[in-house]
Amino acid sequence: MSKAGDSIGIIGIGYVGLVTATCLAELGNNVVCMDIDAEKIDLLRQGGVPIYEPGLAELIGKNKGRMTFTTALEDVFSRCEIVFTAVDTPPTFTGDADLSRVFAVVSALPGLSSNRHILVMKSTVPVGTGMKISIELARQEINNIDYVSNPEFLREGSAISDFLNPDRIVIGSREAAAGQKVAALYQHMRAPVLETSIPTAEMIKYASNAFLATKISFINEIANVCEEIGADVTEVAKGMGYDKRIGSHFLKAGIGFSGSCFPKDVTALKQIAGNSGYHFQLLTAVIEVNELQKRRVVNKLKKYLGTLTDKTITLLGLAFKPNTNDLREASSIVLASRLLGEGAYVKAYDPVAIPDAARAVRGVLLCDDTLSAVEDSDAVVLVTEWDEFAHLPLAEMKQRMHQHLIIDGRNFLDPAEVKAAGFTYEGIGRS
Ligand code: UGA
Repeated sequence: MSKAGDSIGIIGIGYVGLVTATCLAELGNNVVCMDIDAEKIDLLRQGGVPIYEPGLAELIGKNKGRMTFTTALEDVFSRCEIVFTAVDTPPTFTGDADLSRVFAVVSALPGLSSNRHILVMKSTVPVGTGMKISIELARQEINNIDYVSNPEFLREGSAISDFLNPDRIVIGSREAAAGQKVAALYQHMRAPVLETSIPTAEMIKYASNAFLATKISFINEIANVCEEIGADVTEVAKGMGYDKRIGSHFLKAGIGFSGSCFPKDVTALKQIAGNSGYHFQLLTAVIEVNELQKRRVVNKLKKYLGTLTDKTITLLGLAFKPNTNDLREASSIVLASRLLGEGAYVKAYDPVAIPDAARAVRGVLLCDDTLSAVEDSDAVVLVTEWDEFAHLPLAEMKQRMHQHLIIDGRNFLDPAEVKAAGFTYEGIGRS
């Protein structure tokens, strides 16, 4: 059997796919990027970049000679031995991951190529999926494709540096040789490489995200207790974080975790456990705490403003975190609909996510900058800790607003500065 070319294929050019493709090109590989979305592929061919990720446009520009874009799977399999799959696996209404896009790729495999290939799973798929795919390949008598699980640990907003400077590389395979070929792609990175079985690699991904989400829900509950007893969660987290066994990361209290990964993966892991007969009690609490955390801001507003009917509330930041335009599962969406449900007028400004917000948050007046967003407002809620919000134009805001209340949903602002400007300030879990 002959061998396909040396290019690397990437199927599914979303956040993970495009970052993976670009970084593999940066490492010196030729990459063939495939997506079924013809508009996106056209845009990339013309030098456009469909997502906002710091440094990505520049890196694509730098490596454009090594990147080609296509909507045809055949192009990928005719040119590439190693083919990454990074299609999305959104949650279904049961909380299970929707694997239809993954299986669309697998079922297209017969007839695509008789060359030897390694199909590398980058998409986050439920534990057991790799084995299912291997069985499906065997059932279809496709013997020329090895399957490798290589989960990603990229954070939106710092995905490029996370890819190029990973904490670890996880490779799950049945055939050691296939795993080693994938591992070789990362050989110049100074990171431990963990070679495991396929289900173990899949579980490492879920367990990592679920643990980080648990840390956030834990500190959010500590914050809520701090509010009751007059302690300051930012100091508590600092004091905890110095303990190396705990670590200081992911102990920032706020209005809950959101985005395309944590909510989906925590729920999926709970479902995976449930489907196998185990009730994952801890994760049930992590999810519930997170849902309630997004809504606590509403009570904070009521504490100062009374009824929210006909009040104008301004949300500063809509993206699920800074340095991304991603609004998936964003706390801002839940908060905005709760506020609209209370009869408030909601205005919002985000430095990057406004075009996407027009679709995601209906009924909210989207503004071009902070000052127009706070005009005639009764309160500001800081939802996303964008750098440009670190030092708000407080004096001008005071003149434009009806009432002078700031709820800092990310404990991002300097309370002394805000209060000195004549505002009432409340953060999350801050005395
Ligand atoms: C997360 C993981 O951090 C990545 O390792 C993983 O690869 C990725 O999911 C994925 O599965 O693809 P991401 O969702 O981009 O990355 O963002 P994070 O920086 O982890 O933040 C997630 C959410 O937690 C955000 O809403 C953030 O505001 C919130 N968060 C984070 C807190 O509320 N407190 C913290 O201390 C940290």
